Amino acid sequence: MARIIEQGGTIPPPPVRTSSAFSIDKDKLIKGIFQISTFLTAPSSVADILGKILDEVVDSMGFDRGIILLLDESRENLITRVVKNYSDEEAEKAYSSHLSLKKHDSFETRVAKTGHYIALEDSEKDPRTTETDRKISAFYKRGSTFYAPLKIEDDVIGIIAVWTKEKTRFSPDEIDILLTFANQVSIIIHITRLFEINREKIEQLLILQEAVSDLNSTYSIERIHEILIRSALRIGKAEKALIYFLDIVKNRVFINDGERGFIDNKSEYGVRIDRTIIRRALDSDTITVQKPDEETDEDSEEDSDAVVPLYEGYPSEVAIPLKVKDRFKGVLLLGMRTGIYSQDQINVLDILVNNAATSYDSAIMHSILSIEAKSLKTEVEKLKEREDILLGFHNILGKSKKMVGIFHVIEEVAKHDTNILIQGESGTGKELVSRAIHRQSHRSQKRFVDVNCAAIPGTLLESELFGYEAGAFTDARKRKLGLLEYASGGTLFLDEIGDMSPPLQAKFLRMLEDGYIRRLGGNESIPVDVRFIFATNRDLSKMVAEGSFREDLFYRISVVPIILPPLRERGDDLLLLARNYVEEFNRKFNKKVKGVTKEAEEILRRYTWPGNVRELKNIIERIMILRDVGRHITPENIPAEMKVSAAQDPVVPADELFPLISATDRMDYKRAVEKLTGKIKARILERALELSGGNKTKAAALLNISRYALIRELKKVGKGGDTGT
Ligand SMILES: Nc1ncnc2c1ncn2[C@@H]1O[C@H](COP(=O)(O)OP(=O)(O)OP(=O)(O)O)[C@@H](O)[C@H]1O
Ligand SMILES: [Mg+2]
Repeated sequence: MARIIEQGGTIPPPPVRTSSAFSIDKDKLIKGIFQISTFLTAPSSVADILGKILDEVVDSMGFDRGIILLLDESRENLITRVVKNYSDEEAEKAYSSHLSLKKHDSFETRVAKTGHYIALEDSEKDPRTTETDRKISAFYKRGSTFYAPLKIEDDVIGIIAVWTKEKTRFSPDEIDILLTFANQVSIIIHITRLFEINREKIEQLLILQEAVSDLNSTYSIERIHEILIRSALRIGKAEKALIYFLDIVKNRVFINDGERGFIDNKSEYGVRIDRTIIRRALDSDTITVQKPDEETDEDSEEDSDAVVPLYEGYPSEVAIPLKVKDRFKGVLLLGMRTGIYSQDQINVLDILVNNAATSYDSAIMHSILSIEAKSLKTEVEKLKEREDILLGFHNILGKSKKMVGIFHVIEEVAKHDTNILIQGESGTGKELVSRAIHRQSHRSQKRFVDVNCAAIPGTLLESELFGYEAGAFTDARKRKLGLLEYASGGTLFLDEIGDMSPPLQAKFLRMLEDGYIRRLGGNESIPVDVRFIFATNRDLSKMVAEGSFREDLFYRISVVPIILPPLRERGDDLLLLARNYVEEFNRKFNKKVKGVTKEAEEILRRYTWPGNVRELKNIIERIMILRDVGRHITPENIPAEMKVSAAQDPVVPADELFPLISATDRMDYKRAVEKLTGKIKARILERALELSGGNKTKAAALLNISRYALIRELKKVGKGGDTGT
């Protein structure tokens, strides 16, 4: 340990200590130093710590009394901070007066000024003792005093003085220890002071830290309001808070006053805000402070410009702007009854608000994204729901490649007046397509006339088409316009064109070639302005080959051939149509069937659908009207015959049907088949008519064919007498 020489005075080196009354217990001392250092870990106020330190120094070193004086802010006056073992009177005196470094010359001021210690062995006799010293304290009459500067590096912050009533000489070791002690004390005082100065700031920063971590863990705007308000109130030590939030795009104001959050539809806050510092902070985009007394000042100057506290009775306000990207603008306002906001508080509040702004931004983004995600989802769902409708064409449902191709053709040909021939099995939608073409064409505002060639006997069909003049034949009392005239400007749909008689075919071809007609029994040539669409479920080219249909007419009518695929070749269109009909009959029968189960779907897929879409429609209707359907159509709901036909190839009771075949019989295969199928057809048609009491419409429905097809079939098997019901 370095030897410490007395630096304090001009007196000769002190004699060797004679009295042993005062001696330092080193162990106790070291314990004391340790004890003092523990004060740091449990920081309390400076005054508190000084008291403890002085206790420790005096007690551990065996002094009788002690005092700590610290320099004030001006660093010119020593102020008594703590005394030990002073009489009340002396303590009172010590606390009530201060020692000025400039005016007072005492041991204390000298130590504070020079930063050197003074070891005073005989207070009474030492020549350095001044009048001031004597005035200050009665204990100068006897004993020894040690004055040590409290220093942070070279900076004196105060002094500590300890006194013993027994005169003593301070050995260099003892001085050394005492100075070490003083150093330790200085550091503790310094740190405690620093802590005390920053305590508030540290507390604010701790609140800020907590708030920021809370803000970072939420996407809820309500929660952000809550965190912001709660933390701001604590940091600003304020009593009132308000968040004012303006949605610039929607021009809506959102308010949260710490108790509730709401959209200020009623402009409850509108006018109120304009007279507060919220308006100023918003407009200037700067932190605005309102001190309690400023308010009255401005009030007297110009009333209209006066700033009014938002909350009455809370005039000390601060408003901090809150900017969330370009869309939202806001202000956080704090109000308190008295006091002002320190710069530290304002700085920390500003950091808090900036952090909240970032959180608002991500919360808004988050909610916009989730709203978008939601609406995207509903769009997708909607699309899926509407897919069926969207993927069709003028009531013609279908998304299969074949059908989509047909939609394109329809769109293309509709614009021109070309003749169209639609071919396809029964129930594939020939009539539907022809109507769609008409609707798509420039003739859509004019008539769509449909004629079924199979349903009208030859001669009658002729007069129906061409019309007649009065007296043209026995029944012709007055002139009748033909359908070719009636349809003028519009579309004439000639269904079952294959059933037109050969003579009519010839006449019809002439009309097509000439472009005009003559009524039966008339001479006048009437121009024809009609768009023709023909349809048939017979194989016309085969009929041409067989000679039952005119080749020239065939080429004339089939300028644009459209061949509708059977349902079994249309893939998923089956389910699309099925769903569509389920919907249709839900509405019709007021049911809530959702669709078809996977198992039922499988049966529908395997079925061959000879009656195509019409058959499907009828089956669904039957299921939904008769069967006890639940939420979904199940295999149990599906008619048994469909399941059989789906499960296996139709078995024809051949033996029963072929009685005419024997080993010796010769037979023409083609004719035999024709005859046989004719018989079968006849049996089926008869049965259907039987079941429907002779009503052809009902019989056709039972067989899933059109009424016209029924009539045609009846005719083929030689039973088509009349065209009645
Ligand atoms: N693609 C489709 N989308 C919706 N419904 C359809 C479709 N195809 C046919 N249909 C319906 O099926 C039924 C039969 O259609 P349409 O009368 O047009 O068939 P067709 O081919 O003219 O039959 P037929 O040769 O027996 O006269 C109608 O109820 C029709 O609405
Ligand atoms: Mg038809």
